[in-house]
Amino acid sequence: MAERNFIIIGHRAHTAADWKLNDICGGAGRMDILARCVTSALCESHGIRKDTDVWLVLKGPPNNPLSIHFSGKNIKYLNPDERSTAALIRNALIKSKKIEESFETSPGITVHLKDLPEILDFLPQPIVLLSEDGETKFPPLPSTFVLGDDTDLSKDEISSLRKHLNLSLGKKSLLTSSCIILLHSNYDFSSGTQS
Ligand SMILES: C[S@@+](CC[C@H](N)C(=O)[O-])C[C@H]1O[C@@H](n2cnc3c(N)ncnc32)[C@H](O)[C@@H]1O
Repeated sequence: MAERNFIIIGHRAHTAADWKLNDICGGAGRMDILARCVTSALCESHGIRKDTDVWLVLKGPPNNPLSIHFSGKNIKYLNPDERSTAALIRNALIKSKKIEESFETSPGITVHLKDLPEILDFLPQPIVLLSEDGETKFPPLPSTFVLGDDTDLSKDEISSLRKHLNLSLGKKSLLTSSCIILLHSNYDFSSGTQS
């Protein structure tokens, strides 16, 4: 299991490949946000963060919930542009039509028919909900961070995280992808891996 895990809830993100790559912001249910988060979490200037995994929880129509796991250690064919990341997600959704539980749709990308609470069961603790009004003392790694897309977590989602930490990166409401970059920076500095 990776040391740094980012779960992003795509509240409207479509769970079938019923959208076009030219319409990732609209018809796909803000898939652009999720693709940007994958880039922020996994892409370095000339490489991939092997210590990091991303979990996209897709909650839009028609087959929700469905989760797509990106493994930094195993992923291949990931480039830093949103369109090609969206294409990897689309490919995963096309292949997910046939699956019953979990299936690796391309190297390092696995689709699971699981919702947030089931994913939380097997990811590393502590689990941290990110929100503007949380506390500001971050735990050491390994850790799992949960973030919303362009909307915050629903009451039910927050309630499934009740017993976990709620931390803030400041009072300003930031883009989810920016939060991921700030979190990486915080841990890179504290572990001395920042050059
Ligand atoms: C664009 S924000 C969500 C919408 C925003 N709260 C609003 O309605 O103005 C996306 C997600 O990023 C995270 N986030 C944004 N700003 C944050 C902050 N200052 N501290 C911690 N997390 C933050 C939260 O997980 C949030 O759900």
